[in-house]
Amino acid sequence: MDKKFDRQVNRKGTASQKWEKYGDSDILPMWVADTDFMSPPSVIEALHERIDHGVFGYTNVPTELNQLVIERMQSLYQWQISSDDIVWLPGLVCGLNLACRAVGASGDTVISPKPVYPPFMSAPRLSDREVCTVPLKENNQHFTIDLDALEKSLTDRSRLLLFCNPHNPGGAVYRQEELEALASIIIQHDLYICSDEIHCDLILEAGLQHTPIASIGEEISRRTITLMAPSKTYNIAGLGCSFAIITDKQLRQQFINVRKGIVPDVNLLGYTAAIAAYKAGDEWNQQQLDYLRENRDYLQREINLIPGLKLLPIEATYLAWIDISGAKLTNPAHFFEQAGVGMSPGRDFGDANYMRLNFGCPRSTLEEAIRRIKAAIINELPA
Ligand SMILES: Cc1ncc(COP(=O)(O)O)c(C=O)c1O
Repeated sequence: MDKKFDRQVNRKGTASQKWEKYGDSDILPMWVADTDFMSPPSVIEALHERIDHGVFGYTNVPTELNQLVIERMQSLYQWQISSDDIVWLPGLVCGLNLACRAVGASGDTVISPKPVYPPFMSAPRLSDREVCTVPLKENNQHFTIDLDALEKSLTDRSRLLLFCNPHNPGGAVYRQEELEALASIIIQHDLYICSDEIHCDLILEAGLQHTPIASIGEEISRRTITLMAPSKTYNIAGLGCSFAIITDKQLRQQFINVRKGIVPDVNLLGYTAAIAAYKAGDEWNQQQLDYLRENRDYLQREINLIPGLKLLPIEATYLAWIDISGAKLTNPAHFFEQAGVGMSPGRDFGDANYMRLNFGCPRSTLEEAIRRIKAAIINELPA
């Protein structure tokens, strides 16, 4: 196993959101979704080189980066796009919000799965849209959208579905059949879809692969805003470089219109890091995936041995969605923080029966977190 991911990088004093939350308290931060790994050497070198140039004026989208994205979509997904289809963004959350504003009108309904990454539920409201949530259901230890519930929830004001693939939280990777069934509902009901695929390079389960929903056919492609980024994969979220792929000219123009004068361009260091990541980061990511897979397997085994906790197989992402309902805790986030582990409360994602744990960290940190969680739960058990 690759030792570089075992390295404990001290992030305290670096204005890290993750590590500043708990100040000097002895709480392991396992919440916000960045990893504690250093980015690939190729990314760090490219940034050094750009910094050494010493001039940091306004920048254009580098042609090379568009070309890398086009080649990537072709080689990974056999999806043919052109550089006109790509809209660069400083973040994916801003892409979700723009999608809500670009489709339909004030008062229309945006559908979101639940549980889900919180901005899926806030973006519609911030965009003067109603939000309607549709539950995920468990099918053979795999989370999936309840398509019957989705169809039943539709009204004549429904315009847009926010979709997350791989899904956060839970890490579900949607299968081809699921994507086809969802696409046919979207087409049949004249809806649009914004597909957040930020975790697409983090597939852990052997035999599974990512499929962008827009890549499965022309008709669904015309109705899709796909959002992707190198940020999660290469741990460069702080550099703010993401993109939307919108193949339909009119939809793309609507999206571009609502960003005008409000959303800034991506900064040049973000572009620099993205080029290096996509050009030379694949081997590094394969090593990272091997490491994360071992973390996942360890976590899966250990969590399921703790009374009252349950963890279904995680197909993708470094985010574990732990069912804590059996532990009967009144304030789970506080309980685990008292135990020295800072996780994201499931309540924020729409289900208080869960906690989300970020396992994108050195194994030794994960082992310590498990030791603390186990001790706290065992302590709580009736004598
Ligand atoms: C599904 C999903 N979308 C978007 C984001 C955040 O994207 P950004 O930081 O680029 O706004 C996250 C981060 O956790 C995420 O999990």
